[in-house]
Amino acid sequence: MQYIRNLILALVLLLAVACTGQKSTTVGSTTDIEKRIDKLLSRMTLSEKIGQMNQVSVGGEVSNYAEALRNGQIGSILNEVDPVKLNEYQRICVEESRLGIPLLVGRDVIHGFHTIFPIPLGLAATFDPALVEEGARIAAVEATAQGVRWTFSPMLDIARDPRWGRIAEGSGEDPWLDARMAEAMVRGYQGTALDTTSLAACIKHFVGYGAAEGGRDYNSTFLTERQLRNVYLPPFEAAVKAGAMTLMTSFNDNDGVPSTGNTFILKDVLRDEWGFDGLVVTDWNSMGEMIEHGFGIDRKDVACKAVNAGVDMDMMTFGFISHLEELVASGCVKESAIDEAVRRILRVKLLLGLFEHPYVDVGAGQAVQYAPEHLAAAQRAAEESAVLLKNEGVLPLKADRIRTILVTGPMADAPHDQLGTWSFDGQKSHTVTPLRALQERFPGKVVYVPGLQYSRENRSRFDEVVAAARRADVVLAFLGEEAILSGEAHSLADLNLIGSQSDLLAALKSAGKPLVATVMAGRPLTVERDLPNCGAMLYAFHPGTMGGPALVNILFGDVNPSGKTPVTFLRTVGQAPLYYAHNNTGRPYQGEKILSEIEAEAGQTSLGNTSYYLDYGAYPLFPFGYGLSYTTFRYSDIALDKEVYAKDGTLNVSFRLSNTGNCDGTETVQVYVRDLVGSITRPVKELKAFERVSLKAGESRRLSVQIPVSELAFVGLDAVRQVEPGDFQLWVAGDSASGEPIPFKVQ
Ligand code: BGC
Repeated sequence: MQYIRNLILALVLLLAVACTGQKSTTVGSTTDIEKRIDKLLSRMTLSEKIGQMNQVSVGGEVSNYAEALRNGQIGSILNEVDPVKLNEYQRICVEESRLGIPLLVGRDVIHGFHTIFPIPLGLAATFDPALVEEGARIAAVEATAQGVRWTFSPMLDIARDPRWGRIAEGSGEDPWLDARMAEAMVRGYQGTALDTTSLAACIKHFVGYGAAEGGRDYNSTFLTERQLRNVYLPPFEAAVKAGAMTLMTSFNDNDGVPSTGNTFILKDVLRDEWGFDGLVVTDWNSMGEMIEHGFGIDRKDVACKAVNAGVDMDMMTFGFISHLEELVASGCVKESAIDEAVRRILRVKLLLGLFEHPYVDVGAGQAVQYAPEHLAAAQRAAEESAVLLKNEGVLPLKADRIRTILVTGPMADAPHDQLGTWSFDGQKSHTVTPLRALQERFPGKVVYVPGLQYSRENRSRFDEVVAAARRADVVLAFLGEEAILSGEAHSLADLNLIGSQSDLLAALKSAGKPLVATVMAGRPLTVERDLPNCGAMLYAFHPGTMGGPALVNILFGDVNPSGKTPVTFLRTVGQAPLYYAHNNTGRPYQGEKILSEIEAEAGQTSLGNTSYYLDYGAYPLFPFGYGLSYTTFRYSDIALDKEVYAKDGTLNVSFRLSNTGNCDGTETVQVYVRDLVGSITRPVKELKAFERVSLKAGESRRLSVQIPVSELAFVGLDAVRQVEPGDFQLWVAGDSASGEPIPFKVQ
């Protein structure tokens, strides 16, 4: 199916080029790609075929790998971004190997190449797929200009436990939002037409990795097939439909089967149901790790299991290159399976035009890095992604009334840390921190006393910073997590602001000045205890290269905050996992008294036996979709066009949105649905649409959103995805916890 789509794409492209007479840098004769693959395959030895299935992380001198490249034993490399070296790698393959097959050069370009955008969790907080697509396109332009043609992104793992450090790398807890971001990133990386700026996307990690038990990275998952199909698979399916060229298997074992050896997900679902004809690569040594999992005896055994499960390329186990020949000889692996894998690898190389354009123009490549329009887009993304959690009239700050600004906290001037996890190529020297942005904007007004140089430093310098706070007109505290505290293998069991940061905020409060806490982190931290200690809290998931100016623009009101959180904020870590789209228990929480209230009313024990924690209830600190603005919005006259819909119909919900405050602003309208009774129990709410709407102060507009009834389908008791007739409810609101339900029926 995907092949046919690519073919159509190529035809449209060729037609467009023919019409405009423009010289194309596209892949050229894509229409005969399969024939070219047949021809190549017929000339390849088994050893050359297996070589294509081998991916190697390179480093040091090119000459270290020259012999293997010349002998056709490496199909892809990762972790080299020097364009001069990359050209040399390609030259050896193209000019000195027997068949001249170019390399596929991979890199983790996760939220930008040089120009770093907010971490993916922050990008999701924009609820702005168009901007996310633009960011991915910029990443592709910068990375491809330097010779990288494959990124290991987007990460589509649903994450409902903020202890998991990799929550930073995805779009959060919701499958529908994740799917929209997935499509946007795939389109952005690969481009609407394949050309020399196309960066092949790699959707990862397939699948369920984000459900790691206890939020501890790499841990086992126990997702049922139904849970996979209703929550974890849909973003991947959407990305496949959007044309993602490659996919990566995950590290986890789900229900006892490691993904890299899981025939059900890799063959039955991915290939047979979805028709994916792209390349499947393992995660780093995830094939080898099946030995640790206890799923294979040795490297030969796991190589056999992986290739037979549908893996095409081995990242860093060296299991294919060492054992596939003997596995074919012994009959454990059919040569036809190898041919299919190589076909899929060559297809990606041909689609990317690598045979026609293996080299990059080194000089031209440098010119596009950190281009002004790239920096401007990164700044816009950081502005749209920051979430205002609290504001007691402190923000926006009035610059003309301020003579002295105290800037403090470990994240105020931490260029590396504000870039967040997986920002290999973003340079500190190009990163604008809040301190730098403030100093440039308000020369002579900024006093910088860090208080804590880094989050876990001791509190020995608090007196100095509190004294400075007393002399200032406003205190801006930049707190959070250093980049190293989230991301791969960086899970946390305590989600309070790390080190002495909460104490710093409390100490600053004692100075009695307007105090704004800006938190930069890779996950939603448990900031409940910090909220009373500041007049306003702005939350930025690590905001990237232009985080400084973006945040300063928000603090001083040039930009009205519009980010909405793509994850639930917990009150305390013990509530994890807590997410809005949960099923109802038979005894839903009614907001009963919690322990402290019971103690206050000594003797009162009549709690009702419902589902909650005695000490923390069952509600979050902030719900999914939450975020304040400097203005206020009102939803009114919400109405569906019908009471009863056919299964093939479309819900049309109209409503009035009014900006009821004193400044222009942007609201992210969210539409949620609940299926009241099903063949299985269903989530209490599910996001089905969202839209950013900008309104002038005082403006009011009638809007409508259409949702195909087919969007209400799910995999029920009989294992078939379908819409089940019955009663439903719909909400139109500014977050997942607001609004009043409107009933409707499907028949
Ligand atoms: C990560 C992947 C990444 C790969 C290559 C692994 O450790 O899990 O997400 O793409 O390394 O760097």
